[in-house]
Amino acid sequence: MDSFLIQGGTPLRGEVTISGSKNAALPLMAAALLTADTCTLRRVPDLSDTRFMLRILESLGAETRFDQGTVTIRAASIRGFGDYELIRKMRGSICILGPMLTRLKEASVSLPGGCVIGTRPIDLHLKGLAALGARIEIDGGYVKTSARKLVGTNIFLGGRAGPTVLGTVNILMAACLAEGVTVIESAACEPEVVDVARFLVSMGAKIHGIGSPTLTVTGVSEMHGADHEVIPDRIEACTFLCAAAATKGEVVVHGSRPDHFAAVIDKLQEAGVRMKQKSGTLLVSRPGRLRATDLTTLPYAGFPTDVQAQFIALMCLAQGTSVITERIFESRFMHVAELMRMGADIAIEGPSAIVKGGRRLSGAPVMASDLRASAALVIAGLAAEGETMVNRIYHLDRGYERMEAKLQALGARIQRVEGE
Ligand code: UD1
Repeated sequence: MDSFLIQGGTPLRGEVTISGSKNAALPLMAAALLTADTCTLRRVPDLSDTRFMLRILESLGAETRFDQGTVTIRAASIRGFGDYELIRKMRGSICILGPMLTRLKEASVSLPGGCVIGTRPIDLHLKGLAALGARIEIDGGYVKTSARKLVGTNIFLGGRAGPTVLGTVNILMAACLAEGVTVIESAACEPEVVDVARFLVSMGAKIHGIGSPTLTVTGVSEMHGADHEVIPDRIEACTFLCAAAATKGEVVVHGSRPDHFAAVIDKLQEAGVRMKQKSGTLLVSRPGRLRATDLTTLPYAGFPTDVQAQFIALMCLAQGTSVITERIFESRFMHVAELMRMGADIAIEGPSAIVKGGRRLSGAPVMASDLRASAALVIAGLAAEGETMVNRIYHLDRGYERMEAKLQALGARIQRVEGE
């Protein structure tokens, strides 16, 4: 397994261009299963997760191609039985269930895995499909679904922690080819959901309320191919903002959509980070000391859970005590123990991390436990004194395109150490 070796203490300086969004690309690829025509997706990030999704689609019978950020998918003839091992390995793969079921009237997938950030149930996905008329059975590790036909209805999709992102896109896709009108209440409003909905409309779907918590879908009998550019990855952009701030650097971020991460910009400013927007670019710098800042992760447009770990790494360097509360995924604090190896002072109290900042971080060998936790360790390593070895960076390769190359271009002393 590969590792990153980081010599900390160099301020990041220069320019970085943000890649297409992983979390939009995965369900967009799944949406191509709704038609026998060819779909083209541009600005798809080259990541192990996106490559993995293509393998899953191929295992269902789709023809795929990935060439310099452009993916073409032709699902002319597909089968309804997903490869157990492939699907189990990636949580994002659950969003093939809705399109497969609505197109084939039966679909089986293995229960998905993914990052270890608490229990990640799929009850809301199944509730939505059942409401549309699907029979659902859990058997031998598979979710087996079938329906003579899917029929539109009113579905409340809110859960304990609020709306579900992949659950919303799954039900949205299933509803596109269902009979009649489906109303999804408490739909997720994340930019990735909006991106998928827009792609579905360009494929012939009839959807109203895009971007709002109430999505109304009028079923159509057929969808067709379409060409779409994936939105920029807001989590990658926020990760670079935190890294620039942590190293007291100055970075120009190109190709992002700051309106997609206003909550993060707000918190960074509160923490003393300076941000200037100018014709599609974002200039980030940190002129003075970082101030302790409290926050709570929330569904969009609140502060994203996927930036919580990176922000904790930043708050380790701030003056004072920050309270960071996680409201989306319980036990998403795997990075805390590793940050403490580097000298951080953090206590977990229920859903909150109490970060006593202002300490000097020192390099250490640390273990990446999930995708965003890994990004937090890289940020801490870049800001720390001495050498940090971040082990198990396959998590990072799942979600960050050419991360070390982008950081090197900003002057970071980071290199990949290849493992077995
Ligand atoms: C997506 C993102 C992930 C992000 C998360 C929250 C992808 C590939 N992943 O994950 O990076 O951290 O949104 O923004 O897009 N829940 C249930 N029942 C369900 C489904 C979810 O209780 O059937 C709960 C979850 O346990 C969690 C909350 O709802 O507490 C939100 O999860 P959800 O929005 O579904 O996350 P994902 O879509 O899996």
